[in-house]
Amino acid sequence: MPEAYKLVDHVYDAVVVGAGGSGLRATMGLAEAGLRTACITKVFPTRSHTVAAQGGIAAALGNMGPDHWTWHMYDTVKGSDWLGDQDAIEYLCREAPAAVYELEHFGVPFSRTPDGRIYQRAFGGMTQNMGAGPPAQRTCAAADRTGHAMLHALYQQSLKHDADFFIEYFAIDLIMVDGACRGVVALCMEDGSIHRFRAHAVVLATGGYGRCYFSATSAHTCTGDGGGMVLRAGLPLQDMEFVQFHPTGIYGAGVLITEGARGEGGYLTNAAGERFMERYAPSAKDLASRDVVSRAMAQEIREGRGVGKERDHIHLHLDHIDPRILAERLPGITETARIFAGVDITRAPIPVVPTVHYNMGGIPTNYWGEVVTVRDGDPDAVVPGLFAVGEAACVSVHGANRLGSNSLIDLVVFGRACAKRIATLVKPMTPPPPVPRDSADFAIARVDALRHARGGSPTARIRLAMQKTMQANCGVFRNAEVLDEGCARIDAVYQQMADIGLADRSLVFNTDLIEALELENMVAQAVVTMHSARARTESRGAHMREDYPARDDENWMKHSLAWFRDGRVELGTRPVHTWTFSDEVEYIRPKARVY
Ligand code: FUM
Repeated sequence: MPEAYKLVDHVYDAVVVGAGGSGLRATMGLAEAGLRTACITKVFPTRSHTVAAQGGIAAALGNMGPDHWTWHMYDTVKGSDWLGDQDAIEYLCREAPAAVYELEHFGVPFSRTPDGRIYQRAFGGMTQNMGAGPPAQRTCAAADRTGHAMLHALYQQSLKHDADFFIEYFAIDLIMVDGACRGVVALCMEDGSIHRFRAHAVVLATGGYGRCYFSATSAHTCTGDGGGMVLRAGLPLQDMEFVQFHPTGIYGAGVLITEGARGEGGYLTNAAGERFMERYAPSAKDLASRDVVSRAMAQEIREGRGVGKERDHIHLHLDHIDPRILAERLPGITETARIFAGVDITRAPIPVVPTVHYNMGGIPTNYWGEVVTVRDGDPDAVVPGLFAVGEAACVSVHGANRLGSNSLIDLVVFGRACAKRIATLVKPMTPPPPVPRDSADFAIARVDALRHARGGSPTARIRLAMQKTMQANCGVFRNAEVLDEGCARIDAVYQQMADIGLADRSLVFNTDLIEALELENMVAQAVVTMHSARARTESRGAHMREDYPARDDENWMKHSLAWFRDGRVELGTRPVHTWTFSDEVEYIRPKARVY
């Protein structure tokens, strides 16, 4: 180990990496169970990307009309285009109402109905009566700042239960011993010291990797650091080809305008002023699922009916809605539209375009948050000591396409489940298994090599090449030609990492180093995303292959797995769970997915 690095050792029962909604819910639950719990986070907890979640959190409370968790389950299975695991989906939807009431009791200031109950709005793909009824108002909202409110409540709860926070610490690598996770190595961004955390359980709650793309609603911190660590540990990622484009990112800025805007009555128009969604989704119209709406918008633009000088975007109208309603229910996006699009939403439409928003794929887990892999023919083999939750994970409840507002509920339901599971496995205050003396050396060597890297390719140049490649070659519409080219281009970006060069200030400050470490995580995930997309020769959910336009259940109703070893992608599969969590509901059989 290079002498210059000060190594500080820590021992905990459980360590959580990431302090967004799922990381904080796990941290809180672990600390509440009496486990010595550390939460490592590269940003201050309330600045985690969950803060940007606007429209709300899905749960069948039935405050605005009839609803039932089985209807929520049906919509989620259909939304996933039958790639979601139905045991996990049942667990999610069944647990959702209790998880929301728990948040209410933690202090989340939900908007209210006139009689004082939690206000719920309509979101895409949410219906009554197993898809047969009208839209369900199922999305519980704190105006359009729901994620912000949740983060504050969960951070306060974690502090109340005495969790330790390591803020502005960057997790570098997992400590794996004989196939089990025994801890994690992190860098203190302030002083460059290296910290080795030993623990019985490590929970990766590191969020998605949206910043692999050029235009994303994701924060700049969304670099998929957990996924990068998992790939380096020799474990696979799952369903990486499924990348969600949110229909309404502000044109040119990428900033999110919540789907709740359409839930409150907003609608999309093309250059002719036509409400074109009526043609693509005659029943749900503007509130069809996100993949359907994004494809329709992209199609309108491709066929020359986009708005603006370059006919390359679409209009979102809210100007017909009572300004008092907009002020009460959509204050955040009123401000966002003014700042980022220069639009007064009470008078003019917002220019929007489909924008990368969410990764359905990620670290494969079961519904307890335990990371799973294929081992000795077992497709659900648990990796001891390693857990993942939130967008970093692929449970899989979202399958090929996530429904809006199902991500916030995923964070808290599985954050809580994971804490509960660890509490059954770990006796508080017992020493974690020993690790070899040199267990941090691999991580330190990576840091040291990057800090001193003086090649000819600046981090920013490689990052831009990756982002442009992903945007151009792995977008809303895909085909073999585009994906073959994309694989060649993204493989070349990966090769360029050998020539990365940081400025001399990397010897003094850690910011350039962190960007380079993040880039390593992103590039690996960009590579497996592109290769997984090329391999899946069907269209399902967000993965639209123009050369294979139909869903192919016979050959492709399975999760894809991707390993990245020595710069090479290896692909595999594992079965979709076609069983439910309980005997109370039956497996929902595949059918055509129309809205
Ligand atoms: O549109 C939104 O408010 C985003 C919500 C989500 O992605 O779940």
